[in-house]
Amino acid sequence: MASDLILGINAYHADAAACIVRDGKLLAAAEEERFRRIKHWAGFPSQAIGYCLNEAKADLSDVTRVAVNRSGRANFFRKLGYVAFRRPSPRLLFNRLRNRQQVTQIGDELRALSDRPFVGSVEYVEHHLAHLASAFYPSPFREATVVSVDGFGDFASAAWGRGRDTSLSLDGRVLFPHSLGIFYQAMTQYLGFAHYGDEYKLMGLAAYGNSSCRQEVEKLLSLKSDGTFALDLKYFRHHREDIAYEWHGGEPVCGLLFSQALADALGTPRNPDAPIEERHRNLAFATQAVYEDAFFHLLNALHHRSGHTAIALAGGCAYNSVANGKIKDRTSFTKSYLQSAAGDAGGAIGAAYAVWHRSGARTSEMTHAFWGPSFTDAGLVALLKDRRAEIEGQACRVQTIENEKDLVETTARAIADGLVVGWFQGRMEWGPRALGNRSILGDPRRADMKSILNLKIKRRESFRPFAPSVLREAVADWFVRDDNVPFMLQVIPIRPERRDQIPAVTHVDGTGRLQTVDRASNSRYYALIEAFFRLTGVPMVLNTSFNENEPVVCRPEEALDCFLRTKMDLLVLGNHMVRRATVD
Ligand SMILES: [Fe+2]
Repeated sequence: MASDLILGINAYHADAAACIVRDGKLLAAAEEERFRRIKHWAGFPSQAIGYCLNEAKADLSDVTRVAVNRSGRANFFRKLGYVAFRRPSPRLLFNRLRNRQQVTQIGDELRALSDRPFVGSVEYVEHHLAHLASAFYPSPFREATVVSVDGFGDFASAAWGRGRDTSLSLDGRVLFPHSLGIFYQAMTQYLGFAHYGDEYKLMGLAAYGNSSCRQEVEKLLSLKSDGTFALDLKYFRHHREDIAYEWHGGEPVCGLLFSQALADALGTPRNPDAPIEERHRNLAFATQAVYEDAFFHLLNALHHRSGHTAIALAGGCAYNSVANGKIKDRTSFTKSYLQSAAGDAGGAIGAAYAVWHRSGARTSEMTHAFWGPSFTDAGLVALLKDRRAEIEGQACRVQTIENEKDLVETTARAIADGLVVGWFQGRMEWGPRALGNRSILGDPRRADMKSILNLKIKRRESFRPFAPSVLREAVADWFVRDDNVPFMLQVIPIRPERRDQIPAVTHVDGTGRLQTVDRASNSRYYALIEAFFRLTGVPMVLNTSFNENEPVVCRPEEALDCFLRTKMDLLVLGNHMVRRATVD
């Protein structure tokens, strides 16, 4: 019997991405930004599609179904009603229609990619149903409450349902213009973080604030008795004015979401170049607190209805790892799951899984994020040979260590000596976090590691924390809760007595954004942390993404470029080390 090859895509939206699923089994998934080298790239993910087909050893003509995480028909009558009664600006309508037209032209885009014709069907899956599918189907749960919370997609900003084996219901939605994602994004803009995807900066800053501004921010949002929420629309613009949205062929752009009424109520918005003051920190704290209240209000209402012990989450707001870390404390759910690409990129696998599970058997649990490109050792050798003059010109030398035990021990020693190590191995991660294959590693014990990293490579805001990768078995000794968090999507308090031992990964409020590492998911990274543990008694390393103001590196060329243009001390490319002589 011929196989069912499903290509899932997220297109004409931020974090364009593709994945490929054969007979219910995920083979490959990647975000387009990694190939185009532009963060959050929005448009048609042709390069990610090319990679996925290559990985599946297939051509477009072999694809039976293309699944798209958008559907123009979803919530159509609600959209019509909104246009008839609320009369939004003609420009807003034009932008929406243009975007819808792009999505419906996907068949044409696909046909242009290959000489051999695409003869399969294109199937459109409602945006939030794709989010729900991306969370539930790869989860370990046979039965769970499933929730999606984001800015907007197909006229909805949140949705929920129940997953059971191969079935998934979409039981309710929060419709435009009410949105927790828009609330958080508007406050992110107000606080002077201007780029698309900057919400995590507000989240990091919130830990430095106090609750003194809470009542001011609470006015923006009200909680409803059914578990949902509503924006006070006078503080926002997105529902009535011409917001500049750009989702085509580059970095996504989103115009200002908050109105003059918000600036009148909270004071002058912070200019991106202005210093961060106490009031900004307190407003960030309040925004996070109000977000959490609304998020848990919804989750508790859903738990009350379902009685489930398990919850699976997706949508852009599911990247709020601080809120995710409190699910067990603030709800009656005892188990949670987030897939590594919980946001819009993940809609690609959500759409593919939604289509597959209409008739197929349940897919297996996603236990690791390594679904991206890998590179052969011969390719690494050729690269180092080609770039030899440049490498030697920077007083670096190359060494090959074939024995894995020696390789991880040498690397662990370098980390323990305070060096900053670029660690490039195997397949690239799916989702925004580097999880041990495209990572920059450092010593979590050194109080100065954060400033060393910022000085040598990252140059990022000093208030943003760095995260630890921890041996799975050691979590209970170091964190207040013994959880499996393979995708670094939960912030959990570090045991108070341990905080002084790992200052570089302890945030100002005593928490850490945990990544648990088990041997089965990434044996080489596990062995490296184990070697560091043997040397130091600390079963974790500091792990930050391998990049410098760019998307996470994908190819070894980009890793070498990043190493050579920064002051990174050591680069480990597979079995090869490039070491700056100055650190010998
Ligand atoms: Fe979304």
